[in-house]
Amino acid sequence: MTSKRLAGKSALITGGASGVGRATAIRFADEGAAHIGLYDLNPENLANVAQEIRDRGSSPLTFQADVTSREQCQAAVDAVVATAGRLDILVANAAVDGSATFLEMTEDEWHRVIKVNLTSSFILGQMAARAMVADDKGGCILYTASISGMGASEGDVHYGVSKAGVINLVQTMALELVKQKVRVNCVSPGPLDTPLSRALLGSDEAMERAREHFPLVPMGRLGLPEEIAAAYAYLASSDGAFTTGQNLVIDGGMSASVFLSPEGLFDE
Ligand SMILES: NC(=O)c1ccc[n+]([C@@H]2O[C@H](COP(=O)([O-])OP(=O)(O)OC[C@H]3O[C@@H](n4cnc5c(N)ncnc54)[C@H](O)[C@@H]3O)[C@@H](O)[C@H]2O)c1
Repeated sequence: MTSKRLAGKSALITGGASGVGRATAIRFADEGAAHIGLYDLNPENLANVAQEIRDRGSSPLTFQADVTSREQCQAAVDAVVATAGRLDILVANAAVDGSATFLEMTEDEWHRVIKVNLTSSFILGQMAARAMVADDKGGCILYTASISGMGASEGDVHYGVSKAGVINLVQTMALELVKQKVRVNCVSPGPLDTPLSRALLGSDEAMERAREHFPLVPMGRLGLPEEIAAAYAYLASSDGAFTTGQNLVIDGGMSASVFLSPEGLFDE
């Protein structure tokens, strides 16, 4: 049984209709959060997750909105404050990826990913922090970064740079906001079993194979969105009270390895 570490808290979760965002919303509801704002582009998935939240006894607020819209971000922060009395937790998790080599990437494609993943992280983080310091109670801001922000991967330099930017944003925000009792942290997942990965792997068959066996990860499998949600529950709760400015890497050991023997390579 899950403990109720977030009893009575309010949260706003971007990308809350799928993958990590959905799992986090459900975990927060299981941990007793009273009001959970779900912010996403996808109306059907939003309605489904809202029902899952309701079934667990929490009150969902849904925002069919784009994180690149300053007006929509502000409206969502204001709505959570108006409904719940304050905003306790922001999980800025929505992101997009793309595929283009460095030599072929267009400026438009660069800006598309940087705007959703990094610029929106700054803007929404600033709005949330201003709301949290307004009543002097502080709060908790969480970002989904990625191991792609900690090293190179081919074919999506904009994504990696956006996530590296989020990791630094977290460190700077944490220092600047520490006196106002706002803690700021991020989680860097390795490859996960979510719709985003399905899109990147290209087919249901490739996704099925990766779920069972993913040789780039020492644990040999994709991570689960629930395994990231569990970290957010810890970081958002008083268990994480002394933790700020950190990048918690959850990747089945991937970033710890310098060299992995491809299976069978050294077999007789
Ligand atoms: N899936 C992975 O392997 C993996 C690995 C490392 C990090 N991450 C990060 O985890 C986070 C969640 O990814 P996921 O795998 O759960 O993906 P997902 O595709 O399952 O969910 C992302 C959600 O974000 C929403 N979204 C996208 N653009 C938006 C916008 N402009 N405004 C509002 N909502 C928007 C989508 O509609 C979707 O519901 C992302 O930040 C991603 O970069 C994922």
